[in-house]
Amino acid sequence: MFKFDTLRWRDGVLEMIDQRALPARVEYLKYDSAAAVADGIRSMVVRGAPAIGCAAAYGVALEAQRLIHKPRDAFLYGMEQGMTALAASRPTAVNLYWALNRMRAKLDNLRDATVPAAADALLAEAHAITGEDVRLNRQMGMHGAALLNDSSRVLTHCNAGALATAGHGTALGIVRSAVEAGKRVHVFANETRPFLQGARLTAWELQQDGIPVTLIADNAAGLLMRLGEIDAVIVGADRLAANGDVANKIGTYSVAVLARRHGIPFYVAVPISTIDPVMPSGACIPIEERAASEVTGYGRTQWAPSGVAVRNPVFDVTPAELVTALITERGVVFAPDRTKIRAHLAG
Ligand code: MRU
Repeated sequence: MFKFDTLRWRDGVLEMIDQRALPARVEYLKYDSAAAVADGIRSMVVRGAPAIGCAAAYGVALEAQRLIHKPRDAFLYGMEQGMTALAASRPTAVNLYWALNRMRAKLDNLRDATVPAAADALLAEAHAITGEDVRLNRQMGMHGAALLNDSSRVLTHCNAGALATAGHGTALGIVRSAVEAGKRVHVFANETRPFLQGARLTAWELQQDGIPVTLIADNAAGLLMRLGEIDAVIVGADRLAANGDVANKIGTYSVAVLARRHGIPFYVAVPISTIDPVMPSGACIPIEERAASEVTGYGRTQWAPSGVAVRNPVFDVTPAELVTALITERGVVFAPDRTKIRAHLAG
């Protein structure tokens, strides 16, 4: 349904929709190196865990194209530097490292290939990662849609939609799949302070698809739950620890606590690539802190007094005990814990 590409390969370069400009302007920026893509990730041109992974894979592929005429040693040295720059772009979403590991494994397997053949194979791998992401989101959507009744009112936080992935979305992919299956779903979008992914991105992307959406201030969620106006919460994740703790956009934890207080199911939609089996618990997940200017204003507008002290952690951790179910491309895991997650990953 959604007609905009989050990222696309055109004429030998990567183009990414500039998510900082949405919804005011739909603009694509062009990228031709790993360093440039790392900058695009850091500066939030592209954001959302799976989309960051796809962008990083293309960053590696672009670097290989850029170094295609170099001797083998210089090529490998440059590739290493490119991957290091990409790995340093943002710390929390594990899909970034998952995609880089997959690209590195591909490169390692090409030990006997010529540099041009290796570059071609890396581009094919980046295309594969991106294509798979859409397919997996559709599978996740199908599993999740089965959990929603007709006329469900779903609260979501941040943007876990087509814009956060290669297409369809994780949390919003479930909504899209439910709508495609003929269910009437109404989404309540938390605005998601401070970067406003809910107000700017979720509200816009659902409007584009004609899916009913009501934007609310983050602090209105509790009242709506108490009034009985929310049937389910569905969010995405940036990293899921081995014990089921969920790192997602700051404010997710508060929503999960509210949902438990009101007996509302709290679902987390995650591709397997977002599960970090070596991260023992959420306490160990690195939480990104971003610039104070994201809290004191937006764009050119500043509303807080100059010089005020600010904290801006942009993710939080929701303990597994608050999660009703995980929804992955493989199915649904109710009341997730370490044992069930291990079994889900093995199966
Ligand atoms: O800082 P962002 O916009 O990259 O954070 C994104 C989120 O927290 C999303 O909810 C998460 O990546 C899930 S996306 C499918």
